[in-house]
Amino acid sequence: MFILTCTDCRTSIGVSTGGIANCTLATPLQAPLWAVVASLTHARRILEVGCGQGYTAANMASAAGPDCRVDTIEENPQHAALAEEAFQLRDLSNRINVLRGRGQDILPRLTDCYDVVFLDGDWREYPFKIERV
Ligand SMILES: C[S@@+](CC[C@H](N)C(=O)[O-])C[C@H]1O[C@@H](n2cnc3c(N)ncnc32)[C@H](O)[C@@H]1O
Ligand SMILES: [Zn+2]
Repeated sequence: MFILTCTDCRTSIGVSTGGIANCTLATPLQAPLWAVVASLTHARRILEVGCGQGYTAANMASAAGPDCRVDTIEENPQHAALAEEAFQLRDLSNRINVLRGRGQDILPRLTDCYDVVFLDGDWREYPFKIERV
């Protein structure tokens, strides 16, 4: 078990290389729901805005299987780095792409179509983001 901690907001993610990770960023009910959605829809392309430390992105990628690719946008460089570290520990780096920057700047540049979109950044930007996705 590895504990990765953000010195900005003091949140941590625990990563078990053998299985499930846990993280204080995602609510206990929300995180499993997105893994179920990713699995039931047979999603091949998933977009997340607000990667945090990568807890839900990793669960969605694991649940959807090896053919699924996840793009996840994160504006906090420390969160992005911790997430990438967590993905490496779970052997998911080749399936999850962390896009560094703000959702409203990156969304207009994305050209892929996504099967599942999880908005989990600043809720005040949702009207702009929903228009783009
Ligand atoms: C609740 S956490 C994300 C948790 C993650 N989705 C999960 O379930 O594991 C919210 C994250 O969104 C990021 N964030 C907030 N506003 C953002 C924006 N406009 N663009 C990109 N990231 C943003 C924050 O830095 C934070 O890491
Ligand atoms: Zn933080």
